Amino acid sequence: MKTKKPQASPFRNLGRLIEDHFKKGLNKVEEIFKDTRAADDKLFSYFRVFIDDKGVASVTPSSRYLIERVMKAMDVRNAHQVVEYGAAEGVMTRRILDRMPSNGRILAIELNEKLFKSLKCINDPRLIAYRGDARDVGALAKKFGLDKVDVVVSGIPFAFLSRDGRHELLSDTARVLRPGGRFVAYQVTTHLIHPLNEHFSRVKTEFEIRNIPPNFIFTAFK
Ligand SMILES: C[S@@+](CC[C@H](N)C(=O)[O-])C[C@H]1O[C@@H](n2cnc3c(N)ncnc32)[C@H](O)[C@@H]1O
Repeated sequence: MKTKKPQASPFRNLGRLIEDHFKKGLNKVEEIFKDTRAADDKLFSYFRVFIDDKGVASVTPSSRYLIERVMKAMDVRNAHQVVEYGAAEGVMTRRILDRMPSNGRILAIELNEKLFKSLKCINDPRLIAYRGDARDVGALAKKFGLDKVDVVVSGIPFAFLSRDGRHELLSDTARVLRPGGRFVAYQVTTHLIHPLNEHFSRVKTEFEIRNIPPNFIFTAFK
């Protein structure tokens, strides 16, 4: 008697198809994050931090495309005083240190304890790694003698701040910047355009899709 060959389950095919797409997606993610020191298991440790602390506001560190765009907007080649809000593990910080003058200084502020542990491991005498709140920028700039800040860069989620909190931080940011200095913020939404225009003389907007999630980049000039 002829035995009937068992038919391949349509779900098995579907499973393979999904697996294939998933692998392709992971390869793409790996390609996007190449060079940000996050292509390895750091990508996943960052994701775990995000699960614990929604204030982190991003499931991965910034991609090399977003970093490159932000770096261009910051133009730190002649920046002697830089402040970074929400430095996390320091993917952006490292790139800034690569490009800023050898006698410059950068104050990198990070709220999350786990991410800060990696940030403070960056061994560079120009870096002041500070665990705390960016909203204290006025007092911190004074404490560390930063009286003519050229560039402030921010990845913190302004949308999580209250309306007053947002305005207070933007006003303090404008105050610590030297005349002609700039504030560069990368954000998921455009909600910051209006408040930025209230505190700065000119605002330029760009968009980078090759990041998870895609980000707007605002450059506001004092
Ligand atoms: C979108 S992540 C940006 C991370 C990093 N700069 C990068 O390029 O991958 C935002 C970071 O801001 C930090 N953060 C959120 N609110 C903050 C605050 N008020 N002060 C300082 N850091 C804050 C979060 O812990 C998180 O590390």
